[in-house]
Amino acid sequence: MYSIETKSLTKSFGKVIAVNDISFSVKTGEIFGFLGPNGAGKSTTMMILTTLLKPTSGQALISEFDVMTNAKKVRENIGYVQQETTVDEYLTGRENLLLQAKLNHIPKNQIKQRIDEILELIELSDKQNDAVVTYSGGMRKRLDIAGGLLHRPKVLFLDEPTVGLDIQTRRKIWEYIKKIHKEFDMTIFLSTHYMEEADKLCDRIGIIDGGKIQVIDTPENLKNAMGAEVISIIMENSTNRNSFLSKLKEIEFVKNITEDGTKLTLFVSNGTKVIPIIFQISSELEIKINTISLTRPTLDDVFLSYTGHEIRDDNSGFNRKREHAKMKRLRS
Ligand SMILES: Nc1ncnc2c1ncn2[C@@H]1O[C@H](COP(=O)(O)OP(=O)(O)O)[C@@H](O)[C@H]1O
Ligand SMILES: [Mg+2]
Repeated sequence: MYSIETKSLTKSFGKVIAVNDISFSVKTGEIFGFLGPNGAGKSTTMMILTTLLKPTSGQALISEFDVMTNAKKVRENIGYVQQETTVDEYLTGRENLLLQAKLNHIPKNQIKQRIDEILELIELSDKQNDAVVTYSGGMRKRLDIAGGLLHRPKVLFLDEPTVGLDIQTRRKIWEYIKKIHKEFDMTIFLSTHYMEEADKLCDRIGIIDGGKIQVIDTPENLKNAMGAEVISIIMENSTNRNSFLSKLKEIEFVKNITEDGTKLTLFVSNGTKVIPIIFQISSELEIKINTISLTRPTLDDVFLSYTGHEIRDDNSGFNRKREHAKMKRLRS
């Protein structure tokens, strides 16, 4: 069962092809992440899927309803939380939700209960009567998300839900998203340019760059496909060292071993399977291992290998580049 399906979806703005012939499916119940840098086409795709923008060509279905021919049905089935906050600063948290409830035509006799429930879920009950202007960035984002949930959508769209928030707040928002996902048993489609967010939160990731999907898979598979993991061992010297080494070489997933004094480095294809075997062999041979560590390819490596460039975070070149572009626009 799929909650989102696109076929050759394309959107051009004049000469710019923002979304270029993308086809993907999101399974019902999964958290699917669109990972890509600024300008990749994430928001444009999301706006098509939420019926706010018409595609130039191709097709998109939400819960089997076509976004072009059945927009009303699609809207009933979705919640959409934009990147920029949409809450009214001068209203209280509760008043904002009341407004959302009315906009979403929630039956009058259910409004109070739904708002109470959602405030509880996002832990804003005790702040509900404060003006939003007093809220932190994280609280505003939680309120934004709450607004998208009041009508109990089957599919929730979150466009860069944690952009601009500090890392602690970001992690908190991930917890709320997980909680919501579990509680409402919904499909979640989110976009992000944060590696860690995609890695920690998403069941599957589509890497999007230049309007094209480069690859779609689970974070696990993407990283594993990068090949070699590295196990480093520091052992105590032993007369059994050579038999230890030859037994290690026989392990199925071990591709290569280098030795440097008491330090062994194993290049392996399945580190989590190899480590217990290493312990088993070392205990049979009465070899003492002082430290053992496994390093794995990161999603950064994955991104780099599929796009040929790095995605950068907050304070690095990525945003500086954006600032630079902004300044240029201001000057011209
Ligand atoms: N309304 C628009 N008019 C012209 N170009 C647009 C418009 N919206 C987006 N674009 C361009 O489409 C590309 C993709 O943008 P967008 O979907 O916002 O990317 P992302 O959300 O991944 O940062 C960018 O090159 C952007 O400048
Ligand atoms: Mg965007």
